[in-house]
Amino acid sequence: MFLWALFLIALTASYLSFIASGNRYLHRTSHRSAGGLHWEKQIRSSAQIRRKNGFSVLVTGAGGFVGTHVSLALNKRGDGVVGIDNFNDYYDPSLKKSRRNILRSKNVFIVEGDINDQRILAKLFEIVKFTHVMHLAAQAGVRYAMENPNSYVHSNIAGLVTLLEQCKSANPQPAIVWASSSSVYGLNDKVPFSEADRTDQPASLYAATKKAGEEITHTYNHIYGLSITGLRFFTVYGPWGRPDMAYFSFTRNILQGKPITVFRGKNGMDLARDFTYIDDIVKGCVASLDTASKSTGLGGKKKGPAPYRIYNLGNTSPVTVPVLVGILEKNLKIKAKKNVVDMPGNGDVPFTHANISLAQRELGYKPTMDLPTGLKKFVKWYLSYYGYNDGKGNSVNS
Ligand SMILES: NC(=O)c1ccc[n+]([C@@H]2O[C@H](COP(=O)([O-])OP(=O)(O)OC[C@H]3O[C@@H](n4cnc5c(N)ncnc54)[C@H](O)[C@@H]3O)[C@@H](O)[C@H]2O)c1
Repeated sequence: MFLWALFLIALTASYLSFIASGNRYLHRTSHRSAGGLHWEKQIRSSAQIRRKNGFSVLVTGAGGFVGTHVSLALNKRGDGVVGIDNFNDYYDPSLKKSRRNILRSKNVFIVEGDINDQRILAKLFEIVKFTHVMHLAAQAGVRYAMENPNSYVHSNIAGLVTLLEQCKSANPQPAIVWASSSSVYGLNDKVPFSEADRTDQPASLYAATKKAGEEITHTYNHIYGLSITGLRFFTVYGPWGRPDMAYFSFTRNILQGKPITVFRGKNGMDLARDFTYIDDIVKGCVASLDTASKSTGLGGKKKGPAPYRIYNLGNTSPVTVPVLVGILEKNLKIKAKKNVVDMPGNGDVPFTHANISLAQRELGYKPTMDLPTGLKKFVKWYLSYYGYNDGKGNSVNS
């Protein structure tokens, strides 16, 4: 008996230490308790539709770069928007909180919670009959996957399935538009990248989880009749952007007089990206919501076929990283200290280039922003947000 008790104690202890070590790989998040009358009231008010035939949209990752911009655009035209974000510390959460404050000033509420939390999702769908879900919550970033692989599985796979489970049993089922990524093209070297090109050679775990997302959403479309639109974004940039991305961290380092690391591909080739301005991406997201047919299922049962769509959202004009640096130098009026090194095998690909004719045809998607103009807008935002504007172009806050 005593031995059995000892055995049970040891088993419990080893389980608890397993849970603890598992959580070590996830991000720190600060969850406020969800629920209560005030909480529900904020959600109802945020979800209020203010235009004829408007939508009620659940935006996941609403505290993120793209999520904030899409939420603002939907709110502006009179759709009801409720956000959900776990405000994790992959990058400075205070930037996410500042974005939240902008949304709050427009009466858009972001629920602080994880998309893996089935109870919160169920509660949200109980309070609001969402017509659409704009799913943007994810663990982004290519290189970070080598440091924290489980965070990708947590948000991009497990979180996606939890969300789809909720959507499939919702009544009515919402139509789902979600962010895949250009990274699914991986080692594909046929340019420009078209939706029909092969995507079975991912170069990073991030890409692999996005590719898995495309397969997982297909399954839910096939079995449950969920209307699915997957968007392969190509390097999105602009005001309120992500600090882990090159254009952002280069700006920070150049202003602080620190060196920047510029990667070079095989045979000294410059890396190139199809940089796409945030406003163009937002238009593509909104057009996807507008053109998405309804889901067909009811009570978790498929009643007929529903659309499964995938689109590239890019700019169609790749720019090399040295050219990007040159544009930043011109805008900041500071010469960068460049440290040019060979690209390590950490998941990056040498170039991206989108063929957008499908999105053009079916969504009316037509990007209009060139990189120099878009970066000028970004730099203006950056200097203002981080308090560099003292009138003489000098730093006052850094
Ligand atoms: N920005 C780009 O260049 C780019 C390119 C291709 C694809 N994407 C995809 O677009 C989407 C939006 O990207 P972004 O640049 O706005 O990134 P972001 O990191 O700024 O936004 C993602 C948001 O999701 C939240 N989040 C992460 N895991 C969560 C979870 N489990 N539960 C709740 N919230 C969670 C984060 O806190 C963050 O605020 C992502 O799916 C990303 O993979 C972005």
